[in-house]
Amino acid sequence: MSGKIITLTRHIIEEQRRFPQATGQFTDLMNDIAFAAKLISYHTNKAGLMGILGETADINVQGEIVKKLDIFANETMVRALDHNGHLCVMASEESEDIIPIPEQYPLGKYVCLYDPLDGSSNIDANVSVGTIFSIYNRISDADTPGTLADCLQKGINQVCAGYVVYGSSTMLVFTTGNGVHGFTLDPSYGEFILSHPNIRTPQKGSIYSVNESHYDYWDENIRNYIHYIKQVDEKTGRPLNSRYIGSMVSDIHRNLLYGGIYLYPPSKLAPEGKLRLTYECNPIAFIVEQAGGKAIDGYERIMEIEPTSLHLRTPFIAGSEEDVILFEDFVKQNRHKVNI
Ligand code: AHG
Ligand code: MN
Ligand code: MN
Repeated sequence: MSGKIITLTRHIIEEQRRFPQATGQFTDLMNDIAFAAKLISYHTNKAGLMGILGETADINVQGEIVKKLDIFANETMVRALDHNGHLCVMASEESEDIIPIPEQYPLGKYVCLYDPLDGSSNIDANVSVGTIFSIYNRISDADTPGTLADCLQKGINQVCAGYVVYGSSTMLVFTTGNGVHGFTLDPSYGEFILSHPNIRTPQKGSIYSVNESHYDYWDENIRNYIHYIKQVDEKTGRPLNSRYIGSMVSDIHRNLLYGGIYLYPPSKLAPEGKLRLTYECNPIAFIVEQAGGKAIDGYERIMEIEPTSLHLRTPFIAGSEEDVILFEDFVKQNRHKVNI
């Protein structure tokens, strides 16, 4: 095999050598996540053929319609991660409470939170969806079942965060705080191969991604910002280009590579925003920051927010540093800076 092919496992093993105290547990956990991602990828690609498409009669804890693939992805994550002794507890966007490790299995030192399927409203139209995950060290006592407090840590405590995008190819992108690395699933080997080492997002982008149908529900500062970025001004690179898929993973992935800003601001419809701090915003914020970008709720750094409940929602603005700072200036009404 050519020395240039670096698998996900090899990359993680080599990264872990920086930590003399590493036990191999983290590498194993990442392999479990990668295995779940391969299963979800396979089923996402085959969804139409396997009669798995369509809505179930269930409504999830968020009060939304649950798609069959949401359930499949959730069960796949639970089953891939519950038995290897790396985790003490899990939490999923699709489960109301924390997910304990079944008694018959050993307990580990990590905590894993995930959104098993992000962008599920897009599934039936064959549009990219994703999985998002976040790993913390446990803070509860070793060898006891993990607790809610283990799952309610600030984003700055994450030891790893990643997403998988099931797009024209399947990619797993993650960070352990040592840069952001992207791996593409080679369907013939069934392996994630390093394809995007050390992803850096442009300091300033040319894309904005937002559900603009909420315009009338936003407060004035947000409307002013969106109005501003659409005005023509060559010197400041305006107007920005509009791109919105409606699968955050896919919107963020594109903007990470091309540069741009993703926004899910508060509105009269959703005063706290829509996205969940623990499953969606914290992991994406860790990745965006590690790629050189910025992630805020409008005022505060996302990863500094105290999660007071498992399914807490937060406004979310993330992307190229200069673009996010400009948004911040509008929201904080630093009008001297933004010349409106
Ligand atoms: P999920 O499918 O996990 O519920 O997440 C959907 C999220 C996110 O992926 C996307 O960016 C956003 O919802 C889209 O929301 P709108 O349809 O309100 O724009
Ligand atoms: Mn989601
Ligand atoms: Mn979801």
